[in-house]
Order: sequence, then C-alpha cells, then structure tokens
Amino acid sequence: MTEIATSKVNFRDIDNILKSFDYNKSYLIAMLQKVQEVYRYLPEEAMTYIGEHVDGLSPATVYGVATFYAQFSLEPKGKYEIKVCDGTACHVRGSMPVLNAIRNKLNLKEGQTTCEGGLFSLEIVSCLGACGLAPVCVINDKVYPQMTSDAISTILDTLMKEEGVA
Ligand code: FES
Repeated sequence: MTEIATSKVNFRDIDNILKSFDYNKSYLIAMLQKVQEVYRYLPEEAMTYIGEHVDGLSPATVYGVATFYAQFSLEPKGKYEIKVCDGTACHVRGSMPVLNAIRNKLNLKEGQTTCEGGLFSLEIVSCLGACGLAPVCVINDKVYPQMTSDAISTILDTLMKEEGVA
C-alpha cells in the first residue's frame, strides 16, 4: 500500500493494516506508521478506528501514543515537507531568520504547520547531522545548505511558480 491517499479515510485499508499486524496492540506504533505512510498524517477517524478494533486499546490510548511521538503528525503534511534545523550550530548561524522567512512566505499563523491549500508544511527539527553546512533546510529529501532568508524565499518562489500558485 504505497499510494498516497489524501482524501477520506478508507476503513478497508486501515483494516488491512491492522490485519497485517494480527490486530495485536503491541504493534500500535508500527500500525500508526503505516497509516501515516498512506495518508501523510494520522486522520482522527483512523485513530478512532484502531482504538475500537484492536483488543486492549481505546481511541484515547491511540491518540495518547500518536501525540506522544514527534514522528506522528495529526495534521495533513504538505506536498513539500520543509524541515528547518534549529539545532545549536544552525541556531547560532541564523536558522531563526530562515524560519521566519518561511512562515511569512507561506502565511503561517502561530502554531500552524501546513499552509492554506496544503502545498507546504513546516517542521522544526533538531540536528540533521550536517552542522558544517549550517543553517540547513531539507525540502522533501533535498538538503539546502547555508540557508539565508533570501535564499529560502527564492527557493519557495521557484516551487510556487512550478506549482502555478505564484
Ligand atoms: S545543528 Fe543543524 S545540522 Fe546540526
């Protein structure tokens, strides 16, 4: 099941995921990872379904686990997942201006991680293991070294143009 589903939750797909783990609650994290692979986030209906169909779990337990681990997103991710490193090296070399430039460009309000229209989502991460290139951003799998607010704005402008939203 590699196809990205962005619309409604297909409970048959969720059930197939549960079946592949024998409805065993010990595999809850793996189940959630699979669901997130399909939907790019954890839809509430999917978490409720898991909580109601796996013995020993409840929707509240599933929600609790999903919110505990940073790897899980309860909001849909964008087509372009932007990660900005705010580890020590990146912070010292100016990750905050880069982050602010992204927020401005995407019109992200406080606490909002995915832009209107769903094209971009933003995540702040700690060290990406490329401190020599600080400050570092990653968009999907592409690493952008030595970012500045101007450079990231240009990159986003280019992507927006390609997507016909600029
Ligand atoms: S602190 Fe940003 S890559 Fe290490």
